[in-house]
Amino acid sequence: MNDASNHPSRRDFVKSASLVAGGLIASPFLTRANFFSGASDTIKIALVGCGGRGTGAAMQALQSKQNVQLVAMCDAFRDNVDTCYKNLMAEASSDGKGLDKNIQVPEERKFSGFDGYKQAIALADVVILTTPPGFRPIHFEEAIRQNKHVFMEKPVATDPAGIQKVLATALIAKQKKLNVVVGLQRHYQNSYRELYNRKDMIGDITSAQAWWNNDGVWVRPRKAGQTEMEYQMRNWYYFNWLCGDHINEQHIHNIDVINWFKGGYPIKAQGMGGRQVRKGKEHGEIFDHHFVEFHYADGSILNSQCRHIPGTSSKVDELLIGTKGKIMAGAARILDAKGNTVYQFNKKTENNPYQTEHDELFAAIAKGEYKFADAENGAYSTMTSILGRMATYSGQVIEWDKAINSGIDIHPKTYAWDATPPIVPGADGFYPIAVPGVTKYF
Ligand SMILES: NC(=O)c1ccc[n+]([C@@H]2O[C@H](COP(=O)([O-])OP(=O)(O)OC[C@H]3O[C@@H](n4cnc5c(N)ncnc54)[C@H](O)[C@@H]3O)[C@@H](O)[C@H]2O)c1
Repeated sequence: MNDASNHPSRRDFVKSASLVAGGLIASPFLTRANFFSGASDTIKIALVGCGGRGTGAAMQALQSKQNVQLVAMCDAFRDNVDTCYKNLMAEASSDGKGLDKNIQVPEERKFSGFDGYKQAIALADVVILTTPPGFRPIHFEEAIRQNKHVFMEKPVATDPAGIQKVLATALIAKQKKLNVVVGLQRHYQNSYRELYNRKDMIGDITSAQAWWNNDGVWVRPRKAGQTEMEYQMRNWYYFNWLCGDHINEQHIHNIDVINWFKGGYPIKAQGMGGRQVRKGKEHGEIFDHHFVEFHYADGSILNSQCRHIPGTSSKVDELLIGTKGKIMAGAARILDAKGNTVYQFNKKTENNPYQTEHDELFAAIAKGEYKFADAENGAYSTMTSILGRMATYSGQVIEWDKAINSGIDIHPKTYAWDATPPIVPGADGFYPIAVPGVTKYF
């Protein structure tokens, strides 16, 4: 970490970051152009994954109070690049601060297809990775290989093989002193930070609950002429190689909070789940509900539930129960054992954590600081969600060590529009679904 009293310029920092990684000096990728391509202190960003979140994250990077310029964009689909570019230009023009001048993405820096990410990454200092999570391991690996700082969305993988790739890459990122922020934004939210700083008030955490219960998300219906690969890429939420099921895609936020406050990860899990309502052809292979007991090494248990069923009660929250009281995360309140409030966060001081994660990341990069190494926790919290999915799909007790070291890889062998995805529908158009008691991993 650089001494704050003796900041090198951002250029020196980015340069020195690469030099730290000794052997890399011989790398053909270690050229000046990899780190900054202009004479100014502009921080150049590339966006990989130009959907809803990518558009938001790019905007937040541009609004981060540093001199940030969007120079390259990539999406699997060219139409999504165009829509995102249009939306970004409209939003950046509307704020009256001339932010649209910081969007400099001419045609030759707009990329599409499965391999476009490599070229987009090459043009930037910082890369924003916001595709579906199935691609995160290979995109993160490439970004770090090309010596870039990274903002990447959660979850960071969909299977144990992907987790191992992210963990290996996280280690290299640390050696190279490349900042990595993962979009588990509760870590950047004032109320959660204040609760975390006071977690000793509840003594030892003995149990916890976490919820992501709501109506669910969009469906992108099949269109005539699509190959199976294109259909799955568009309707990605419902295919595990891309999404990892909603216990991974969304409930990870709540599971991660419990891991964070516990200061560790579970050793095993068992649970139940299925698809009761959301079970059409267009709903691919994922469940619509999961309930999982995660066991930690100290004997404490997290009861986690996530449900995507319209018309049922909604709740997205976390509760931690300790020997001296409890933390109610959503209410941002701490109670003692008798139920008296002993701390209440002032909600007027809440921030927008999506903005803060970019503000802090880009401030660190601008100052030449190495401050963020979120990838390892991102990988372990993602693995916790995957462990939960393996437990509900199989109905067996799944041990962490066995699962994370299983080498299970649910990805296609080739990424191409005419390649066969790892799961295909039967003659009736329905996809095979996991069956507890029948589905086995070991
Ligand atoms: N932190 C949060 O609160 C939060 C909120 C929303 C989304 N997210 C995360 O952001 C990610 C994206 O979600 P979204 O809602 O923006 O989805 P989206 O479908 O709107 O966007 C994803 C985009 O990635 C593109 N893409 C797919 N594969 C690609 C590839 N190989 N290369 C380049 N582009 C590719 C898709 O075509 C699509 O345009 C997910 O991991 C999601 O969990 C996080």
